[in-house]
Amino acid sequence: MTIGNYEKEIAAAKEKFEAVLRSQLERNERITANKEDLDFSKLDKIIIGVCGGDGIGPVITAAAQRVLEYLLEKEMKAGKVEFRVIDGLTIENRASHMQAIPDEVMSQLKECHVILKGPTTTPKKGDPWPNIESANVAMRKALDLYANVRPVRVPEKGIDWTFFRENTEGSYAVGSQGVAVTPELSVDFCVTTTEGTERIARSAFEYARKNRKGKVSIITKANIIKATDGKFLDICKRIAQDYPEIETDDWFIDITTAKLIDEKRRTSFKVFVLPNLYGDIITDEAAEFQGGVGTAGSANIGHRYAMFEAIHGSAPRMVAEGRDKYADPCSMLRASVMLLSHIGFQDRADALEKALDVCMFTEKRLVITGRDTGATCAEFADYVMETLRAGK
Ligand code: IPM
Ligand code: MG
Repeated sequence: MTIGNYEKEIAAAKEKFEAVLRSQLERNERITANKEDLDFSKLDKIIIGVCGGDGIGPVITAAAQRVLEYLLEKEMKAGKVEFRVIDGLTIENRASHMQAIPDEVMSQLKECHVILKGPTTTPKKGDPWPNIESANVAMRKALDLYANVRPVRVPEKGIDWTFFRENTEGSYAVGSQGVAVTPELSVDFCVTTTEGTERIARSAFEYARKNRKGKVSIITKANIIKATDGKFLDICKRIAQDYPEIETDDWFIDITTAKLIDEKRRTSFKVFVLPNLYGDIITDEAAEFQGGVGTAGSANIGHRYAMFEAIHGSAPRMVAEGRDKYADPCSMLRASVMLLSHIGFQDRADALEKALDVCMFTEKRLVITGRDTGATCAEFADYVMETLRAGK
């Protein structure tokens, strides 16, 4: 077999690869230089940006904002907390600007300390929208929100997992800059840096230490993806040595997905640390045990900024079928627990978490079914507030 002459294509691909390398080396220098955490206790006022997003986003975000405003009423009155609604993160506005996050939205986001964000539509090839980058991914990268923390708990089944998904690297770092080298060959890139891995590993181990979780599992596919996953595994193991009281093990992603449904083994997992794409996939699976992705929240934490959101998408089908008012606010409410904790109101975070456990797991006086057979999103938010008020 002869191989054709691809010199021109290879040269063009090399140029794109070079641009990727330069931008990633620059990013690596930037993240290595900026490691100072924002100290919320030193702020006169905490600004919470609120972006409703698309699809069911506005409904579930408004419900979460209402509950947060109830919990932070005193601080709002005293001018110590401000909610700032930021419009413009809709797919219509993003498409009209041809930007994942339009510049004016980005500058408003950067004036906040933390952000509560509803799901946003991510166009894919063939959709009616231009194929712009995901707003989530763009925000995680632009604000350097490196730790995606996703708790999943099912108390009656003994499940208590916290996933630390690396949030700015892996297959997502340059996910929209892969190269179609020829019509027959496409290549994507996967990125791992030392700093990017050290910081997510430290976050996971620090969390495990503080919360006495006892165990951290490192999840990769280092037997196949040798350069990037291999590096991720090595670095996590090195960081683990600073936490001798915590048991550390490592697993491949494929067998991990299987073990999560193994009732005898799965309860031994506590904290997971894993690259971006595996974290994306496995947290949807994990959330299913808790009642589905509609029940799971996600914190996206960086040194300076943090963003709190649902783990799921904008559910356009629910909106098309007129069911958006029956959307489950629990994902955004679980995210709100983490927001409260992050900005220093641990007492309020604990109260909300307890109320959600009552409403979702034990009392269940109202149930969300996603349709008119169950409660509406607003009714459920009221139920959570009543439960809070009753101190149950
Ligand atoms: C998530 C979502 C996003 C992701 C999508 C909507 C871009 O699936 O937060 O898990 O892939 O990270
Ligand atoms: Mg996902």
